[in-house]
Amino acid sequence: MNEKVAILTSGGDAAGMNPAVKSAADYSRQKGMVPYVVEWGLRGLIEGWIKEATHERLDGMLYRGGTALGSSRSKRFYDYEFRKQAFENLQKLGISKLIIIGGDGSFKALNQFYVDFEVPFAGIPATIDNDISGTDYCLGVDTALNMIRSSVDSIRDTASSFSRAFVIETMGRDCGYLAMVSALANGAEVCLVPEIEYDLNAVGERLREQREAGKRYVLGIVAEGTGMAEPLTRWMGDVLKMDARLTVLGHVQRGGSPTVYDRIMAYKFAVAAVDHLLAGDTNRVVTFRNGRFGSSSIHQIADTKHECESSLLDLVRGLSC
Ligand code: F6P
Repeated sequence: MNEKVAILTSGGDAAGMNPAVKSAADYSRQKGMVPYVVEWGLRGLIEGWIKEATHERLDGMLYRGGTALGSSRSKRFYDYEFRKQAFENLQKLGISKLIIIGGDGSFKALNQFYVDFEVPFAGIPATIDNDISGTDYCLGVDTALNMIRSSVDSIRDTASSFSRAFVIETMGRDCGYLAMVSALANGAEVCLVPEIEYDLNAVGERLREQREAGKRYVLGIVAEGTGMAEPLTRWMGDVLKMDARLTVLGHVQRGGSPTVYDRIMAYKFAVAAVDHLLAGDTNRVVTFRNGRFGSSSIHQIADTKHECESSLLDLVRGLSC
């Protein structure tokens, strides 16, 4: 009998989840497996919201943002009784393997599930925060960066029209990756992130010089993890004496149709995940490191702190002082 694999998305949604689901289903079918999808993430596993991944169900999914299957951050999955219920749901349908698309919390949950019931899984990293250790890329990041780019382009139009200072807050939890890449890609004058110590006195001196030399407006990009968006906006008004405004981009960064890069990366991550499962190389998270796909154990991922590449930090340092 053909092996059955169920695919689910879990945690914060990210563009690229949908193409990953579709590619994992299509490729596993190509490889002789029968693909299923789980709706509403870990909660769906507990509730038994598991359906065969028919073409009808997957059609039109690829270009959509978010996750068409739905996601959840289910606290109940920490409870053994609910995990047992989830295992029984899989058993009823004869599903023996799982592919989970999400963040490290989701991978840890499935690792515990494996410890309990020995259901092998492969993880695909997806979070706009790009903060999963062991991989240079997580699905959703490129789409988020492009959403930020288009917002900053619009803000620059109004900033330059009024000679104002604008502070833009990006998401990322404790990770400054989105802010750093956006600051460089959008020509911001200031960038504050948790990874870099900043010096507002030095920033003030630098900006005053630039203003005297004719700079009409100022853009500051701040990672939410610094908690500095409001203080920096006040500082721009009080110290720089500029008309200053704050834009918190918020969840607009998580939405939108996946970019070509996210779609193709989703395809490659999905193929690698299915290949890992078929090779019996299970309970691995697929990683993309230095341009190559590989995998890490959940322990390597969970026990190592994510570090942003040092060359990126070096480039941004000049915008923090
Ligand atoms: O982890 C993704 C993320 O979008 C973070 O960047 C942000 O801090 C958080 O999720 C927001 O969570 P919620 O959607 O629960 O408000």
